[in-house]
Amino acid sequence: MKPAVLVTKRIYPSAIDYLSGRTDLDYHESDHSMPAGELLERLRGKQGAVGQLTDKFDAEVISALPDLKVISNVAVGFDNIDVAAATERGIAVTNTPEVLTDTTADFAFTLLMAAARRLVEADNFLRAGKWSQWRINLLCGADIHHATLGIVGMGRIGQSLARRGLGFEMRVLYSDVQRAAPDIERELRLQYVPFETVLKESDFISLHVPLLPATRGLIGAAQLAMMKNSAILINTSRGPVVDEPALAEALAAGEIAGAGLDVFEREPEVEPRLLEMQNVVLAPHIASASVATRTKMCLMAAENCVAALAGERPPNLVNTSLFDN
Ligand code: GLV
Repeated sequence: MKPAVLVTKRIYPSAIDYLSGRTDLDYHESDHSMPAGELLERLRGKQGAVGQLTDKFDAEVISALPDLKVISNVAVGFDNIDVAAATERGIAVTNTPEVLTDTTADFAFTLLMAAARRLVEADNFLRAGKWSQWRINLLCGADIHHATLGIVGMGRIGQSLARRGLGFEMRVLYSDVQRAAPDIERELRLQYVPFETVLKESDFISLHVPLLPATRGLIGAAQLAMMKNSAILINTSRGPVVDEPALAEALAAGEIAGAGLDVFEREPEVEPRLLEMQNVVLAPHIASASVATRTKMCLMAAENCVAALAGERPPNLVNTSLFDN
């Protein structure tokens, strides 16, 4: 008998094709997440779940699903899953790293450039019919080349962003709980510095940490106050890494100059004051959203799910302790 799998929300068709032949598939082919109660009901009796970051797999959900063997997240982040609860129950948790690294770094750099050069503001200005003539000081922004880029979190995406910074001849500082390998530091001309130094010396600060208890609220009022008044904050990691009201406060007070945000504390809600600010570039959590990358993420999630249900170690296992013995 084929294992029963629920795909909780629309994914790219090649992943559905992959799952169709190999599983007894229940596909919720919709762009809307199921409410928690409906999701739980539909997961009952399933061995596999291919879920997305809008699906919450907390301890309560996990304990109500005794048949579940794998939660395959179509995302690199997995803060929507209580991994400890899953591990305790022997449920494999998988994610989709690497395939989205460069696409996400591209987008972090896009936000950086758009915020620095006031691109969205310029576009709005022109469309609103406000362009009357060329002016020496019209929509002047900040230079990117030769500026200092501060990266918080030097994992795969942080490194990919550093590579982009290098192309713009930027000075790249970084902080992390773990120092990068010497060859990486050499290749990317990275300077490993304390977190406070990144905050104080960078013209652009980009966040690339996972959401963990230790990184929740990592950027709050105190950290924003340490940044240069000209600094621009970029967040493509997870919303709760930044205290959004404190960010709005800092921007309103001119403590920092701008922000580029792809993620928010309570998605899809956005702190209302940020919506009013011209010096903030906003995007609806789309950093990994190229067709090619999202297609790869879906297929990878499908492969992880099928491997786990075949009793194999899935290629992108998060709770590796399940297979350590
Ligand atoms: C998207 O935010 C992801 O974690 O893949």
